[in-house]
Amino acid sequence: MSLALLTGSTGVLGRKLVPYLAKSYKLILHYRSSDEVLKELLSDSAVRKSLVKVVKWDFSTGSLEDFIRKVLDAGMPSLVILSASYYDSTPLARVSEELFNYLVKVNLVAPSYIALRIGREMSDGLIVFLTDMIAISGHEVYAEIKPSLPYVASRGSLQYVVKHLAKELAPRVRVIGIAVGWIENPRASRKLREAAIRSIPTKTFVTPDEIYLAIELAVRSPNLNGVFLTLSGGL
Ligand SMILES: NC(=O)c1ccc[n+]([C@@H]2O[C@H](COP(=O)([O-])OP(=O)(O)OC[C@H]3O[C@@H](n4cnc5c(N)ncnc54)[C@H](OP(=O)(O)O)[C@@H]3O)[C@@H](O)[C@H]2O)c1
Repeated sequence: MSLALLTGSTGVLGRKLVPYLAKSYKLILHYRSSDEVLKELLSDSAVRKSLVKVVKWDFSTGSLEDFIRKVLDAGMPSLVILSASYYDSTPLARVSEELFNYLVKVNLVAPSYIALRIGREMSDGLIVFLTDMIAISGHEVYAEIKPSLPYVASRGSLQYVVKHLAKELAPRVRVIGIAVGWIENPRASRKLREAAIRSIPTKTFVTPDEIYLAIELAVRSPNLNGVFLTLSGGL
C-alpha cells in the first residue's frame, strides 16, 4: 500500500477525507490542536490500521524543516494532500502586520514549502493543494462571507505555486489544486447554510466523497498537472 500525507486532518473537510484515504493508503496525518477530533478519527479501526504516524505541528511557530523531517522519517509519501489552513475575516481597519505574517506563513509558505521539499524527495506521485474558491476567484466569490485582505493575499498566489511546481517537479511528481466551493459545515449557522445553498447554482453542497473522487481522478490521470480543478456547483 502506498503512503499518503494529509495536513489539516482534523479540519471540517480534512476529517471527512481520512476514512476515504484509509481504504487505499497507509497514512501520515498532521493536525495542530484538535486532540478530540483526532481521537474520534482514531476510533475508526480502519483508520487505526492504516495509520503510520501522527504529526502534531503548528506551521506558524514550528520549523517547517523539522516537520518535513518527522514526516519523511515515517516513509516517502506518493500522495500529499495539503489541506491545513486558517480562515480569517478581520475587517480592513483591524488588519495588523502580525495577522499578515501569520496567514501568509500558515496558508502560503507552509503548503508551498512542504510541497517543494517533499516533492523534490518523492520518486513519483501527486501533490494536491486543497483550497476554497477564494484562491482562484478572489474575495467576492462567496456573497455571504468577507475574507480578510491578508487571507485573500495568502491564498491568491497558490495557483501560480501549483503551475510553477508542476513544471519543476515533472515528470516524477505532478502537482494540482482542488478548489472547493461550499461544503456542509455543522459549525456554520442555519442562516449562513441556507444563504449558501441559495447562492450555489446546483443547489447542493460539495460532498467529501466528490472531493475524494476528484483526488482519485487526479491520481489516475497521468496528464493532469499544473491546474486547479474546481468543485463548486458553478459558483
Ligand atoms: N470547510 C469548508 O467549508 C471548506 C469549503 C471549501 C474549501 N475548503 C478548503 O478545504 C481545506 C480544508 O478545510 P477545512 O474545512 O478542513 O478547514 P478547517 O476546518 O478550518 O481546519 C483547518 C485545519 O488546518 C489546521 N490548522 C489550522 N491552523 C494551523 C496552523 N497554524 N498550523 C498547522 N495546522 C493548522 C487545523 O488543525 P487543528 O484543528 O488541529 O488546530 C485543521 O486541521 C482548506 O484549504 C479550506 O480552504 C473548506
